[in-house]
Amino acid sequence: MAKKIKILNIAGSPVYIGQSALEELRYNLNTIFASKETFFILVDENTDKHCYPQLVAIVPQIEKAYKIVVPSGEENKTLTTCEQVWNQMAVAGANRKSLLINLGGGMISDLGGFAASVYHRGMQYVNIPTSLMSMIDASIGGKTGVDLYSLKNQIGLFAPPAAVYIWPSFLATLPHRQLLSGYAEMMKHALIADADFWRKLISMPMAVISNWDDYILEAIRIKSDIVNRDPYEEGERRLLNFGHTLGHAFETYSLRNDKSAITHGEAVAMGMICEAYISYRVAGLSHTGRDELVKHLLLNFNHYKIPVEAIDELVEITNYDKKNRKGHAMMTLLRDIGQAVEGQQIEPAMIRESLFRYTNFSESAQ
Ligand code: GLY
Repeated sequence: MAKKIKILNIAGSPVYIGQSALEELRYNLNTIFASKETFFILVDENTDKHCYPQLVAIVPQIEKAYKIVVPSGEENKTLTTCEQVWNQMAVAGANRKSLLINLGGGMISDLGGFAASVYHRGMQYVNIPTSLMSMIDASIGGKTGVDLYSLKNQIGLFAPPAAVYIWPSFLATLPHRQLLSGYAEMMKHALIADADFWRKLISMPMAVISNWDDYILEAIRIKSDIVNRDPYEEGERRLLNFGHTLGHAFETYSLRNDKSAITHGEAVAMGMICEAYISYRVAGLSHTGRDELVKHLLLNFNHYKIPVEAIDELVEITNYDKKNRKGHAMMTLLRDIGQAVEGQQIEPAMIRESLFRYTNFSESAQ
């Protein structure tokens, strides 16, 4: 039987995608990583329970790796958790010739990638993403980091993984809400760069998709093309931030105010609704394009309700956005479905207007 694998090079890292990806890891551990002195595997409580046994069944060498378990959830993507990881690595004798294997969603690859990249001035790490969001976005492209209090990804660095192994079968372990979170990023990839992919996505509800392999590959190709042209986000890579200025504001607001915070994807979906409104007002997105985007986002995601009084806090949070320049909010906006433009300076009054519109939003009338 032919090997079911695609190999892409993204920002210097080989990315193995498909049903044979873990077999590739098994082979690589005996070849390109054979000289490593010690192996560590970072998991959270969920991936320890649901994914680690599946990984060991295909890659038995993993059992010899020292396992570090951290609590699940974005609220634990902190320097405090990093310190616990560093402590355990130090006690177990990690050095620059060790390898860290990150098994998990975006929280694990962001945190583990950061922890490895600064440990002893840098040890190698590989990512094995287990969530859709991580497969198509967080685990590839070399962005690593942690949150500072509730502010997203304020501490981190670009540090490409030594390799990424994407095994779509892990998605069967994923709760529907987490799958949906990744789907928001997939919709974003389509919206910024590929109108045909967008049409394919909206042609049926997400719940009907059973074979994710082709969708994952298409979404990764979009990110790969962009990141390979601009690995350090000096320009074009900012296109991937559509929906993220207000998405991060919603996510931070929710981490601060809700008992159970919304997911990254839910926040990005709401961010895209607001930024589609701004795109319509200032970047040329048509009324029809905006309404189509909003309709299809709300077919998949619940409208996250916030009181009008929250607008000040949300606008204030955007002041800490890493994309800001000279104190001004900079956004990626849509000119059309499948066509985005980065580096748009947006005044607080326009952000406020989009949020005001959003709070008054009723699903039937945009
Ligand atoms: N998640 C956006 C990026 O990797 O640039």
